[in-house]
Amino acid sequence: MKIRKAVFPVAGLGTRFLPATKAVPKEMLPVVDRPLIQYAVDEAIEAGIETMVFVNGRGKAAIEDHFDMAYELERTQADRGKSVAALAGSRLTPGDAVFVRQQEPRGLGHAIWCARHVIGDEPFAIILPDEFMVGSPGCLKQMVDAYEQVGGNLICALEVPMAETPSYGVLDPGLRDGALTEVRGLVEKPKAGTAPSNLIVAGRYILQPEIMEYLATQEAGAGGEVQLTDSMAKLIGQQPFHGVTFAGERYDCGSKLGFAQANFALACRDAGMGDDLRSWAKTILKTAS
Ligand code: UTP
Repeated sequence: MKIRKAVFPVAGLGTRFLPATKAVPKEMLPVVDRPLIQYAVDEAIEAGIETMVFVNGRGKAAIEDHFDMAYELERTQADRGKSVAALAGSRLTPGDAVFVRQQEPRGLGHAIWCARHVIGDEPFAIILPDEFMVGSPGCLKQMVDAYEQVGGNLICALEVPMAETPSYGVLDPGLRDGALTEVRGLVEKPKAGTAPSNLIVAGRYILQPEIMEYLATQEAGAGGEVQLTDSMAKLIGQQPFHGVTFAGERYDCGSKLGFAQANFALACRDAGMGDDLRSWAKTILKTAS
């Protein structure tokens, strides 16, 4: 069955970016000139997704506004004879965006469960916008292509240094075949030295609708939150479950370092400012201690 719907959980508090995220959603922070959420939506559209399901919370209205018509802005620019080309892609076709409210930030698993009525009885994708993936084709498109071969459940699998595994969901890997790795088990935020591998779940998922039945129990896991990883672990053995190694770059834009790296990498490649930025960076690196 074709993957038609993608869930974007955007109801987290973004505490690692305070005070920037006090009044601005983390997902609206820009990499160069586009907010993270727009890259995520573009990636979904490229993968053939038709319905974007945003799970948002209080104070996140800017996300809904971002994908709406900006009447005053467009009218004023037109009256001044100025282009609105920069807004291309930021207005979704009416009816393609659905907004669901997560009333309390009880964890990623709880956020996904909030979308259950919109998802219904079909497989669906999940994109965490703060896991910023740069690739051609994009990460979700690579996963949809893999899904067409093996079906079942897929997660994006990524190698990290072993010391970083306590911050992530970690795979217990089975057989590997090209970009596909069989998933034998999953552990959320394992204690240091106990991770089954250094392969983490990196912010992209294709899941069967049965996941909602497990999420419905709302059992709290690591950090007292309802963890998506715990429910996915229960699907293993019942349905095919694979990790897909993404051919591309990944930036953890939930952390300040990853966010700064993403901005620097994309700005260095920008046609308008890349040359100037790279030569400026050489000078700065010489003087930085
Ligand atoms: P994070 O673990 O990065 O949490 O969530 P966070 O709240 O966004 O950020 P910090 O850790 O406080 O800085 C991963 C994704 O899951 C969403 C977030 O919005 C983010 O896209 N999320 C998390 C929810 O939608 N609801 C939740 O209850 C928790």
